[in-house]
Amino acid sequence: MRSAAPANLRLALAIVAWSNARVTLDSGKTMTDVLLSILHHTAIYVLVSLLVAEWVLLRGAPDSRTLARLARADLAYGLAALVLIGVGVCRVIYGAKGSAFYTQNPIFWLKMGLFAGVGLVSIVPTVRLIQWGRRHRANASALPSASDFAALRRYLLIEAVLFAGIPICAALMARGYGLG
Ligand code: HEM
Repeated sequence: MRSAAPANLRLALAIVAWSNARVTLDSGKTMTDVLLSILHHTAIYVLVSLLVAEWVLLRGAPDSRTLARLARADLAYGLAALVLIGVGVCRVIYGAKGSAFYTQNPIFWLKMGLFAGVGLVSIVPTVRLIQWGRRHRANASALPSASDFAALRRYLLIEAVLFAGIPICAALMARGYGLG
C-alpha cells in the first residue's frame, strides 16, 4: 500500500506544474507565438491546396471556364503567399525565441532561399495565365493548347519539389540545428 505522503507530494507537484503552465500560457509572448504558429500552418495548408488545385485544373480541358478558374486560383495563391510571408516575418520578430535564433541560423536562410525559389518559379505560370486571359478576352477562340497546359504543369512541379524542402528546414531550425 502506498503511503499518504508521496501522494500528497505528487498532488502538490501537479498543482505547481499546472499553475506554472497557466502562467506560461497567460504570458502574452507565448499566446502570440501560438496564434502566429496557427496562422503560419493554416496559410501553408491554403497555399499547398491552391497549388494542387492549379495542378488539377491544368490537367483539364483548356477552355474558357478552366482559364477563369485558373486565374482565380492563381490570384488566391499569390494572396496566400503574401499572408504566409507576413505571418512568417511576424514569427521571426515577435516569436517566443527572438529574431536572433533564426537570423543567425543558415538553415533559416536556406528555408528563405527555397521559398524565394518557389516565388520566382511561380512568376512564369502567373504571367502566362495573365497573357492567356488577355488573349482570350480579345478573341474568344484564342485558347491555350493542351501542351501549353502541360508545360505550365512542369513549373508547378518544380515549385512543389522546392516546397517539399521547406518543412525539413523548418523542423531543423525550430530545434536549433544549424546554430553554431
Ligand atoms: C517568409 C516566409 C517564412 C518565414 C519568415 C517563416 C518563419 C518561420 C518561423 C520563425 C518559424 C518558427 C520556428 C520555431 O518554432 O522556432 C517557422 C516554423 C515553421 N515553418 Fe515557416 N516561415 C516561412 C515560410 C514557410 C513556408 C513556405 C513553409 C512551408 C512548408 C513553412 C513551414 C514551417 C513549418 C512546418 C514550421 C514549424 C516547424 C516546427 O516547429 O517543427 N514556413 N517558420
